[in-house]
Amino acid sequence: LGRHLLLKAVVASTQNEIRQLAEEGAPEGTLVIAEQQEKGRGRMGRSWLSPPGKGVYMSLLLRPDVPLPLAPQLTLMSAVALCRALTRVTGLAIGIKWPNDLLVEGRKISGILLESAAEDERIRYVVVGLGIAVNLDEADYSEELRARAVSLKMAAGRAFDRAALIGEVLLEFERLYAVYKEQGFEPIRTLWEANAVTLNKTVTLHTAQGPFDGIPRELDASGGLRVELPGGGWRTVYSAEVGDAAP
Ligand code: BTN
Repeated sequence: LGRHLLLKAVVASTQNEIRQLAEEGAPEGTLVIAEQQEKGRGRMGRSWLSPPGKGVYMSLLLRPDVPLPLAPQLTLMSAVALCRALTRVTGLAIGIKWPNDLLVEGRKISGILLESAAEDERIRYVVVGLGIAVNLDEADYSEELRARAVSLKMAAGRAFDRAALIGEVLLEFERLYAVYKEQGFEPIRTLWEANAVTLNKTVTLHTAQGPFDGIPRELDASGGLRVELPGGGWRTVYSAEVGDAAP
């Protein structure tokens, strides 16, 4: 992965760049990295802070031969790969918040945006967008973001070499993707659960149908989150935002 590499100074979003390449037939493993994004995108229609030279903004093209409903598995795999690579490089205690945010002491250091194109319910390609707040400083964040986000540099008290970090992330990605292709989701599921920080405590899940409280316990075989409800019973969610439960 990452052997077809495009380095860009400024783009709107690396996701757009790679989607165009994908449509033109670019091979699996094609990678676009930008120094800066003017319209970095986050999940749920949010924007992604992308100041020049301080973060890693990259999009990776995968062409897995799996049915569309299994796309969430790739999201979770991406989170595990990123978590393991960043933990190894920084030594920080990094945990995964469902589905794929990485947190240090409750604050977000990286996010993943997975976008897929499908035909006849099969995935044509998947674009994995990775945003890592590497060397951002306090002043790069708005007051509002500062409470919820932090950079690796701020958390570890030292700056990191972005190229080395990208190398580690790609290596780990390659390893896990091979495991996924050979053995399926089960080993990924185990690794995800082992690195998760949002399991086994009461949270509020904000879904398109409204919020509800529950205790996430595990992933199901397709990558959904199985949540135990206060009144007994279970609910599985595939898309939601996990927040602290109201006290
Ligand atoms: C999130 O947590 O909301 C996901 C953030 C994903 C950000 C990355 S940066 C590289 C790629 N290009 C984008 O526009 N977004 C993703």
